[in-house]
Amino acid sequence: MNDASITPLRFDEDGRCVHLLDQRRLPDEELWLRLDEIEAVARAIEDLAVRGAPAIGCAAAMGLAAASHGFADTPAEFDAQVEAALERLAHTRPTAVNLFVALDQMRASFEASRGRPLAERRAALAETARRHAAEDLAACKAMGEHGAALLPEGARVLTHCNAGALATAGWGTALGVIRSAHALGKIARVYVDETRPVLQGARLTAWELMREGIEMRLITDSMAGAMMAAGEVDAVVVGADRITRNGDVANKIGTYTLAVLAHHHEIPMYVAAPWTTVDLQTAEGAQIEIEQRRAEEVREHGGRRLSPEGAAVCNPAFDVTPAALVRAIITETGVFAPAELAAAAPAAVPEGAR
Ligand code: MRU
Repeated sequence: MNDASITPLRFDEDGRCVHLLDQRRLPDEELWLRLDEIEAVARAIEDLAVRGAPAIGCAAAMGLAAASHGFADTPAEFDAQVEAALERLAHTRPTAVNLFVALDQMRASFEASRGRPLAERRAALAETARRHAAEDLAACKAMGEHGAALLPEGARVLTHCNAGALATAGWGTALGVIRSAHALGKIARVYVDETRPVLQGARLTAWELMREGIEMRLITDSMAGAMMAAGEVDAVVVGADRITRNGDVANKIGTYTLAVLAHHHEIPMYVAAPWTTVDLQTAEGAQIEIEQRRAEEVREHGGRRLSPEGAAVCNPAFDVTPAALVRAIITETGVFAPAELAAAAPAAVPEGAR
């Protein structure tokens, strides 16, 4: 097992630059971007060079800390530039709440350091970004252990999108559960939904699983129901971008379809997510802003048009699975029924979700 050797981001020792593994280029090439300006970090998030709810938060935090070295050396201008950076990063992708949790932590660190020399303020931002990523990695490992215990021996698990090491600071949420269960010898096979339109499953999840020698089969999204009907799936395990107070789950488009199918076939549907993905301030899934992405993602692939010129399309990046269709939510502090989630929240659960 490769342990947590896959990581989508690295922070320079001196905190002056963040390196992102460009996920748009996977699986063909492992190209690292070296970023030290806010606009470049924001575009990397918008264009999916870095993606996955926890990884977006980590990239934004590290990107802000790195970019702060290029900000002005007078306190008033420095403050204005940090404010503008927080604002720009908050307008990259709306659905995953982890981004806003990370930005709130960065804002708190920035405000707590007011009045100190700018070198110390920059160091405080870097320290906060590093801590945010370290906590995410630790949460993934803990979720892995909790989730692995839920799966039967010889489990055939279906997953959607990429909720792996690439989507986090390392290890993964849903794939972290699968990795941990694999380490216990419990995984017979993973069915990987290709996840149209951006193909995070085909490109990224397949790449992660194959690197680690975890038995997998890539399927098109439309095959999932037939695999369930054939008795080929023991559990569905997915990640999340935002979970509301009542346990509704926003995740990659297609998750809701899987949940309905799993419910029909009496297959447990598990959602693995750290507390940074839980938004207790939002009552239910209908209130979540669902990101709408470019039509070209649906009309084209790899620069090749798949449909008649100008075909009108819908492209919501996420959907909402009602709590009633989720068997359990796997967090770093334990496994909870969706209806128990709010009461189970640790006292330190991040505030400020938007
Ligand atoms: O559009 P993406 O690739 O950022 O969407 C990612 C997902 O929907 C993941 O399932 C979710 O962020 C959980 S990642 C641990």
